[in-house]
Amino acid sequence: MILEIVLVVPALVVAYFFVTYIKHLFDIQKYPPGPFPLPVIGNILQVGDEPLNAFKRLLHIYGDVFSISFGMERVIIVNTIESAREALVKKGSDFSGRPLNNYLLEIVSRGFQNISFADNTKRWSFARKLFHKSMHLYGNGMVKIVDRITVEADDICRKISATNSRAVSVQEYMGVSILNIICDLLFGKRFDITDEEFKRMRKAMCLLMDGMSPSDPVVSFPWLKYFPASKNVMKVKEGTAIIDNVIRNELLRHQETYQPGNIRDLTDSLIELSQKDELSRITGFTTNHFELVILDILIAGSEPTLSTIRWFFLFMLHHPQYQDKIDKEITMKTEESVEISAASFKSFPFIQATIQETLRLSSVLPLMLPRRATTNSSIAGRNIAKDSHVIFNSYAMHRDERCWEQPNNFYPERWLKSDGSVLPEKETSFLPFSTGQRSCVGEKMARAEMFVLIHKVMSQFEILPDPDSPLPDLEGKVTITYMPKEYKVIFKPR
Ligand code: HEM
Repeated sequence: MILEIVLVVPALVVAYFFVTYIKHLFDIQKYPPGPFPLPVIGNILQVGDEPLNAFKRLLHIYGDVFSISFGMERVIIVNTIESAREALVKKGSDFSGRPLNNYLLEIVSRGFQNISFADNTKRWSFARKLFHKSMHLYGNGMVKIVDRITVEADDICRKISATNSRAVSVQEYMGVSILNIICDLLFGKRFDITDEEFKRMRKAMCLLMDGMSPSDPVVSFPWLKYFPASKNVMKVKEGTAIIDNVIRNELLRHQETYQPGNIRDLTDSLIELSQKDELSRITGFTTNHFELVILDILIAGSEPTLSTIRWFFLFMLHHPQYQDKIDKEITMKTEESVEISAASFKSFPFIQATIQETLRLSSVLPLMLPRRATTNSSIAGRNIAKDSHVIFNSYAMHRDERCWEQPNNFYPERWLKSDGSVLPEKETSFLPFSTGQRSCVGEKMARAEMFVLIHKVMSQFEILPDPDSPLPDLEGKVTITYMPKEYKVIFKPR
């Protein structure tokens, strides 16, 4: 009997993989061109740990819309702005789903029930609306939000002053600041850098960002979730448990002290709106989903913004001439008595151009978030079957040589028109926040955070390299975001 099991089980496993492979080879005929897959692993050896470079090589061979196999899952990669706009705007609802097969994302989102990783459902649409309305109710447009960010930016400048020109980690200082901005807006609560709960939250964010790696084997082989957990799975579980605990405590505190009409923060405003909105009942929106909207704001609201700001300071180290230009613009506007407000951002075209250039070159969500075709459709004349998985490669669009001169260079001036105004995004190959039905809900907030923090820090400090380390390089690390490696700088008072 044992001998039979020993022989039959492996034979069944081999037969299963063989049949799956043959089926996969038939299926991929319907997909855009791409490399020939190996059994079981597909093309993952060609992608390795560097998907961005691998996709660049492949698009030169197979064209702007190609397909590739992650395990036995064929995925379509879209690399040009025209194709992305066609799919995301013109045929927006055709590509508004999300694939529900990434185990790491499933852990964080309690089974894909948050905004970011949920499929296109009525509940997802309600949660998005709830987010927008609560920002409006609490934030009074962006006015109050910019005020709160300014308070936090002043505070981080005080903390930076106390470093007395010692080399410090940008990730730590800006990470504290950005998490505090989000916690202040969400929970009306700010933390000291030494606070234990705060340290746990920062640790959780780092675990999540590290753990949600697209190259973890469980992403390509979902059945691996039934085997002992990988390091990344452990990290994601630990990070999620910490964040869930914070959210539950805060929601409970808010529900106990909430007074209708007295909106103290975004959580209060979410409570008020969800109680009033009939859709909340119809879509089966429970406390669970409520917690997940908060989770979205906490995670999606802090990490991409932090990565972008870390890239910004890194570019400033490599191109110090732009620090002087930014400082000059701020000095000139201060003399003209232009104050920081949501309405005054456009009075600082050079800062805006520098932010745009940072967003372009860093592409912190280089592959956006994966999409699922909700119906049979097409992109660039190629048929795309319902349920196909599609990835929009903004990294390739942001560095497309046909659209950008010397695309790998940091050159903010490319964003300035001859009349001094900033080039409209629509005229360029640029989608840092995506577009269409599933575009980033936090774009305005992220832009406000970046503008205010950069304005405040750059007007008070010069950014200098750490004399004890080589100049940090410009190679990033791809997890769910594309982030620079850790580095230190000296903030020298001006
Ligand atoms: C520089 C900062 C940020 C960048 C570059 C960024 C970029 C993106 C991108 C590319 C997507 C994917 C959209 C798609 O699939 O097409 C996204 C989605 C999302 N972002 Fe952001 N984001 C940033 C900041 C924020 C902030 C501050 C918040 C919230 C406060 C936020 C909340 C979200 C949410 C909830 C989604 C999911 C939308 C959906 O699936 O319907 N993001 N973001």
